[in-house]
Amino acid sequence: PTIYREQYTPPAYFVDTVDMGFDLDQVTTRVATRIKLTRNDATDDHTIILFGDELKLVSLTMNGTLLGKRDYELVDGNLHIPGAPDQVTLDIETVLAPSQNTSLMGLYVSSGNFFTQCEAEGFRKITFFPDRPDVMAKYTVMLRADKAAYPVLLSNGNLIEEGDLGDGRHYALWEDPFKKPSYLFALVAGKLVCQEETYRLQSGRDVQLQVWVEPGNLDKTQHAMDSLKNSIRWDEKRFGLELDLDRFMIVAVGDFNMGAMENKGLNIFNTKFVLANPRIATDIDYANIEAVVGHEYFHNWTGNRVTCRDWFQLSLKEGLTVFRDQEFSADLIGSTSGRAVKRIDDVRVLRQNQFPEDAGPMAHSVRPDSYLEINNFYTVTIYEKGAEVVRMYQTLLGRDGFRKGMDLYFARHDGQAVTCNDFRAAMADANGRDLTQFERWYSQAGTPAVTARMDYDAAAKTVTLTLAQTCAPSPGQEDKLPFAIPVAVGLLDNAGKDMALVLQGAPAERTNSKRSKPVHSLVLELTEAEQSFIFTGVTEKPVPSLLRDFSAPVVLTFDYSDTELAFLMGHDSDAFNRWEAGQRLATRYLLAMVGTVSADKTADQTAAATVDATLLIEALRTTLTDQSLGQSYREVILTLPSETMIAEALPVIAPQAIHGARQALRRALAQALQPEFIAAYSANRIDGAYQPDAESAGKRALKNVALSYLAELDDAPVHTLAQLQYDSADNMTDRLAALGALVNTSAPGRQAALASFYSEFEAEPLVIDKWFTLQAMARSTDVATVRELMRHPAFTLKNPNRARSLIFSFCNGNPSQFHAIDGSGHAFWAEQVIALNSINPQVAARLARSLDRWRKYPPAQQASMQEALRKVADTAALSNDVLEVITKALTEP
Ligand code: ARG
Ligand code: ZN
Repeated sequence: PTIYREQYTPPAYFVDTVDMGFDLDQVTTRVATRIKLTRNDATDDHTIILFGDELKLVSLTMNGTLLGKRDYELVDGNLHIPGAPDQVTLDIETVLAPSQNTSLMGLYVSSGNFFTQCEAEGFRKITFFPDRPDVMAKYTVMLRADKAAYPVLLSNGNLIEEGDLGDGRHYALWEDPFKKPSYLFALVAGKLVCQEETYRLQSGRDVQLQVWVEPGNLDKTQHAMDSLKNSIRWDEKRFGLELDLDRFMIVAVGDFNMGAMENKGLNIFNTKFVLANPRIATDIDYANIEAVVGHEYFHNWTGNRVTCRDWFQLSLKEGLTVFRDQEFSADLIGSTSGRAVKRIDDVRVLRQNQFPEDAGPMAHSVRPDSYLEINNFYTVTIYEKGAEVVRMYQTLLGRDGFRKGMDLYFARHDGQAVTCNDFRAAMADANGRDLTQFERWYSQAGTPAVTARMDYDAAAKTVTLTLAQTCAPSPGQEDKLPFAIPVAVGLLDNAGKDMALVLQGAPAERTNSKRSKPVHSLVLELTEAEQSFIFTGVTEKPVPSLLRDFSAPVVLTFDYSDTELAFLMGHDSDAFNRWEAGQRLATRYLLAMVGTVSADKTADQTAAATVDATLLIEALRTTLTDQSLGQSYREVILTLPSETMIAEALPVIAPQAIHGARQALRRALAQALQPEFIAAYSANRIDGAYQPDAESAGKRALKNVALSYLAELDDAPVHTLAQLQYDSADNMTDRLAALGALVNTSAPGRQAALASFYSEFEAEPLVIDKWFTLQAMARSTDVATVRELMRHPAFTLKNPNRARSLIFSFCNGNPSQFHAIDGSGHAFWAEQVIALNSINPQVAARLARSLDRWRKYPPAQQASMQEALRKVADTAALSNDVLEVITKALTEP
């Protein structure tokens, strides 16, 4: 049944303590749980509700009395015990079949080891329990298992005792000193080894840090350990938050639905976000590991110490923690242009994934109103848009004001399960601000559209900036009220310098006065449907720089001329907006080119010829050769908007024409800038051993983007260059870039390179994932090729990383082939969603999202998409996960 936020009621019973005993066995695991409950006297409800999901109950005892079928009700697999006393001790015995559990929720087996995943509602697959985040308890966990097969036994908190049981089995007793909701419970058991280190906190206290992996992977844990130490230090410095445990563990697992999980003291990670060394991991992997290790560590305060009252508040912890990990990564990079690249990367994720979500059938607000399956709401809206909402507080209140708000939030709510409103109240109260209107960022879905207009009055020396906002309807939300939007602006004079800003009617401290130094960037607060801001003392007509550093998650339009965009590309002091100007100009040409490309992809040469992109090409030449700019920054400027991004800018999506246009522009750039690309390639080669630092990574990024452009020329010299790089590279970043360049050309060595790559890395699952992904996204890969790759012995649908590496990469990352005119891609998609549905509903539901935007395609493609959606909808035994996604896709306009 659909769950509604408005229907929240406090629990009738709280849990004080939980004592669990596990007899771990792959076929049959026995779980004995003792729960001490106290009735919540704020309610007059005497019914204990224990959630269960596909559980086998062995026995249930209340205050020493065995309960029979007449003492409780079974409602959808949950137990309701009516008329319970105020103080209750329950003893519950359940049996589980971990080796049969392919959902990867609850207790499951991966490579012969035991793992758990309990967020959001996986604990109820282990025992009957008030499995809701506002029920927080202290846990003691006894693990028993065969010692030879499972030498390591881990759970949350501190290890109290361990020993042998005499019969070849052993035990470990763990106690978590902190109260926690059940979704933060975890256990791990198996053959694992760890890298460990004693680390001294700023306070002088020593803590034990461990990174657990399968034997053989200890050469891949150093970066995760370094990232963990950096995270601890950063949270102390930036937010005054200290690690509250004596022991902090990270465990890597190869079968995992998501990225990682912040279980108290025992974070469990997808191997993808732990294992790294230069041989197997790319620069992007290194950066992702740092971010995810940080993210999970930061959850210890934002999520664990202060948690969510209910799952509608998910962004309370996720949006805030993503914001924190974004800031952490930016602070570690340090350099201004490096920070800008990080910001650009984050905004790209938002535009590429969240903007389409916000405009599609699954659109929901940052704090949703209802759901059928909570797992479907671990979305880019909750995470990435949620992080933008948190960032806006910091933009409005300043870093210090934001910190004051955080301090008050912890002072008020440590140890509690709270709401997004509580967070907003802490920010408002700590700063004496009224943030009432800001609530709409939580309640209204959709991406606001902001239109800006500038009028210059030469006689009065004033600039009037008029900002207007609208937001299209979303499912269940026809009319939207104006958002409170911080719009950071600057004005550039004819020389490209920032003008000193004097805003009419603004308090002196916010703008220029004689005493303070000139203000070059100002945050305007747009709170109405339309508002004008007047700048005085403006002696020439400026070019405005708007929404600097992407100060709000909106689409801002301004009627720039091509020349103005090229000017901003060359001069804006805001590094984000210099990049933005380039993207705007490129998008403009690409959209014009899409109009000239026919459905026939081979027509792309004509498209380039009919659009004169000289202005863009010359601006990019200047960027590419500007040695004063950081390499990673030059790389992001040279990267054209993705096909998905172009698609979103069109009223009707024509995947093949988009692909053709983008390819044509890439080729035109390669031809025009060939000498500069060759020079950049040579200048950014690195002699000496691989280092993952931001500067070295930037050099590789620029060198490899040059290689990928040169590969568009598909001539013998670039074939040789790519082959040489492939053969001589000492690291995965250069290896993979070279392989990608080879595969997308007619280079004679491309098949041999693919084969040699496979045999070289056969024993490294994460690298084999890359091998599948590269082929899934190759231009020549069609559905038939993907089907063939699925028959490869290394392919399996059961491992989420592997399924994502091939199937998701094709369906989401190769749009012109996936949306083949004959509908074969759509039929393939339906087959895979159906197959995954019976293995792993969560993964299936993610793939089900690939046709969200079907209504934006031309009629012929709409028909095959609709047919595919109906085929899935008509499948028997569809999970709630898939059902919700497909139903919304078919019924929401
Ligand atoms: N809280 C985890 C993370 O962000 C994600 C867990 C999601 N799990 C799930 N089954 N939906 O950091
Ligand atoms: Zn998280």
